[in-house]
Amino acid sequence: MVGLCRGAGVALKILAISGSLRAASSNSAVLRVASRVAPMGIEVIMYDGIDRLPYFNPDLDREFDDPLLPASVRELRAAIAASDALLISSPEYAHGVPGVLKNALDWLVGGPEMVGKRIALFNTSPHATHAQASLAETLRTMSVAIIAEASIAIPLPRGESDDALVASEEVSRALRAALAMLVAVSD
Ligand SMILES: Cc1cc2nc3c(=O)[nH]c(=O)nc-3n(C[C@H](O)[C@H](O)[C@H](O)COP(=O)(O)O)c2cc1C
Repeated sequence: MVGLCRGAGVALKILAISGSLRAASSNSAVLRVASRVAPMGIEVIMYDGIDRLPYFNPDLDREFDDPLLPASVRELRAAIAASDALLISSPEYAHGVPGVLKNALDWLVGGPEMVGKRIALFNTSPHATHAQASLAETLRTMSVAIIAEASIAIPLPRGESDDALVASEEVSRALRAALAMLVAVSD
């Protein structure tokens, strides 16, 4: 049940952004696993440039083709423009959104790429509600479409390998259902 459409044989592209830089991050793991269990017709692409973005500076926040726009920001904006939807999974730090993720979002506020973009928010720590609420509030100022049915809490067992998570029927079923909802157009 895939609603958004790119045409026969062309996969829908979902850009996945993790708010954690930790090597053993559960949020990055859930996105990698989502990319491996995605239903046919959906391609989940990991964005791995969040730590290459400079600190947000409105003086450098230029039009897409302006040479003063930092190249890493242009890459992020191009990746978002080329995607049909976004998947964000982020930890909570001190009741807030991690600085690296907020920094990335600040670079996206002024451009057109996020407007109307369908977004699912994953949460591997269901008790961490402050950051999710704050992230959703920030995204709403950017006129995105947060898809509630695709935004799931998915607590991962600690220390499991990607292969084990992919093999988990419970995890893969939940991720597949969320991805299908993210691209299912019902409105
Ligand atoms: C500096 C710091 C602050 C944290 N603050 C919170 C918090 O306020 N609320 C919470 O639920 N977890 C908090 N945590 C725990 C992380 O959100 C949790 O370990 C999360 O799973 C880490 O995500 P990751 O595995 O993707 O790196 C904090 C962790 C760190 C390192």
